[in-house]
Amino acid sequence: MISRNDPCWCNSGAKWKKCHFPLQASGRAGPSLQEQYAKQWGILLKTPEQIDGIRRASQLSATILKKVCLMAQAGITTNQLDAYAVKLYQDAGAIAATLGYGSPPFSKSICTSLNEVICHGIPDETILKEGDILNIDVTAILDGYYGDCSAMVIIGKTSEEKKRVVKAAYDCLMSAIAILKPGVLIYEIGDAIESCAEKYHCSVVHQFVAHGVGVHFHEAPQVPHHANRLAIPLAAGMTFTIEPMINIGVPEAVIDSNDHWTARTADGKPSAQWEHTLLITDTGHEILTQPQD
Ligand code: MF3
Ligand code: CO
Ligand code: CO
Repeated sequence: MISRNDPCWCNSGAKWKKCHFPLQASGRAGPSLQEQYAKQWGILLKTPEQIDGIRRASQLSATILKKVCLMAQAGITTNQLDAYAVKLYQDAGAIAATLGYGSPPFSKSICTSLNEVICHGIPDETILKEGDILNIDVTAILDGYYGDCSAMVIIGKTSEEKKRVVKAAYDCLMSAIAILKPGVLIYEIGDAIESCAEKYHCSVVHQFVAHGVGVHFHEAPQVPHHANRLAIPLAAGMTFTIEPMINIGVPEAVIDSNDHWTARTADGKPSAQWEHTLLITDTGHEILTQPQD
């Protein structure tokens, strides 16, 4: 993987960052930034019109997420949360990206990942109880655009360990968001998350990554949360998620052999995740799934 100080791939002898580093098209004749990102990495830099659509879908996802989180209390089933989300999508003229997604098709309209479930938990008749920690993940499609976010809910009083992993995952997400601006390399996101997780003595899941989002559900680039060497510079117009999955124990995930979706920690210890959809702007970033109050 080429990094900023390596010689440029064009054989000019200059460092990549001084040569073909694709930050701006710099007025020279040649491919636009959009063309460079599409060709080199398959990354779609969004137009202002697409950004407006993605912002609206993201705002809706954030609103639905907030409402469903408020309903998550002891005695409620995860199926009831799903049914409430279905109504909220419908009322907004949106559809759930998760319903029918993938293979085998995901059967519900949100993901509900409880305690040792890392991600992709399927709503069912499980009743929430005091001490549970629950991730709710909402992806709405509105006017063809996607917004993707998730949050943790703590049911009543819980253990110090569960509180720690919930806070760790939130801080990992926010510390990664804090560094986002054009020119930052994708691997710096993983570095920020790893060093934050370390402070909490927690591990970072490798088997699932964050992703470009907006025009499709899962677009390029993949955005690892763990240490990596992916030297793609962020550019204005990129929209992608960050969604660190953080574990109390080992980072390994095991996928349920019956439903082929539910991913649990290999050691059965608790896991937590928070997710936002982000936009890279000329000067920094915007959290598109920040709920408005
Ligand atoms: N929303 C999840 C993500 O953050 C993906 C869920 S796919 C599903 O990428 F099929 F499990 F719903
Ligand atoms: Co996502
Ligand atoms: Co999600």
